[in-house]
Amino acid sequence: MDIELLKKTAKQMVAPGKGILAADESSGTCQKRFESVGVPCTEENRRAYRETLLTADGLEQYISGVILYDETIRQETNEGEAFAAVLEKKGILPGIKVDTGAKELALHPGEKVTEGLDGLRERLAEYKTLGARFAKWRAVITIGKDLPSPACIHANAHAMARYAALCQEAGIVPMVEPEILIDGDHNIERCYEISTATLKKTFEELAGQDVAVEGVILKTSMVIAGKQAKSAEGGSSSGGQSGMEEVAKETIRAFKETLPAGLTGVAFLSGGQTDEQATEHLNAMNATGKLPWPLSFSYGRALQNPVLKIWAESPNANIAKAQAALLFRSKMNSLATQGRYSSEMEKERPY
Ligand code: 13P
Repeated sequence: MDIELLKKTAKQMVAPGKGILAADESSGTCQKRFESVGVPCTEENRRAYRETLLTADGLEQYISGVILYDETIRQETNEGEAFAAVLEKKGILPGIKVDTGAKELALHPGEKVTEGLDGLRERLAEYKTLGARFAKWRAVITIGKDLPSPACIHANAHAMARYAALCQEAGIVPMVEPEILIDGDHNIERCYEISTATLKKTFEELAGQDVAVEGVILKTSMVIAGKQAKSAEGGSSSGGQSGMEEVAKETIRAFKETLPAGLTGVAFLSGGQTDEQATEHLNAMNATGKLPWPLSFSYGRALQNPVLKIWAESPNANIAKAQAALLFRSKMNSLATQGRYSSEMEKERPY
């Protein structure tokens, strides 16, 4: 294992003021997103949309890496330049989603386990030749009545550890993603309990497979009440929607309880938070002062929502406008990684 290479790449991913653009929606997820804005989800439309994202001028000021999907890492710009090469030229690290999706967990109705270990060594070797420097694997944990089960947390954590070991063997940084879904009516305390249990098990399993945490980036969700939790005035720790400071405080508390000191960094997913919430919460955490790990972003929807909408209105005419929206949201989140964002700045939105 080339630990120096892994450390260097991982540090680059969470370099000061930088975060990651998740553009690795599977064709199924892409279908849902495109449908919501009335664009047919053809291979050419997916390619043209991704080209709009990746060729935004100056993206490298805020974005250290982009996660691509199997189809996307094989695609090219209109001019015939491979997407991975476009990113490399800008000094942005190409990443790749390598799991093959969350499937029903046997004997556990309502729970999922992520698949994709079979043949992963060979797939990683190919992705490396295509330019991938880091890889993502997403595990899904659902909070519900009597959920998650210990079996679900264990199976997912173990699979993530095996994937992470294969990545490190290949010289590719694993971006280990246990996502605790925001769906449900649970309160923030319940999310705290499940988040800490999941993270604890994840790092136990990583250690069990001898994965070097210095060459790992954790991608996870914030500690936050479920979307359907009944609103209580001003947010409350016992029920209702969470307040901004509460999310920041509880997320940091969960990390301090479970993350190893040597971990290179954390990049959050947005998971259904609004664009502004995702930025505000990240900012609130980084505004608390010195933390043991860089806390950054690896947002999909919270970076792309306005971009996709603008692009879809007129895919040929709106490229520059869509790119301006991407640069703006990227900049806001870059400022949030430094605790320098304020909601006042949203007035400068170019969309
Ligand atoms: P969201 O930020 O839209 O949750 O997507 C991030 C991601 O990559 C989920 O795997």
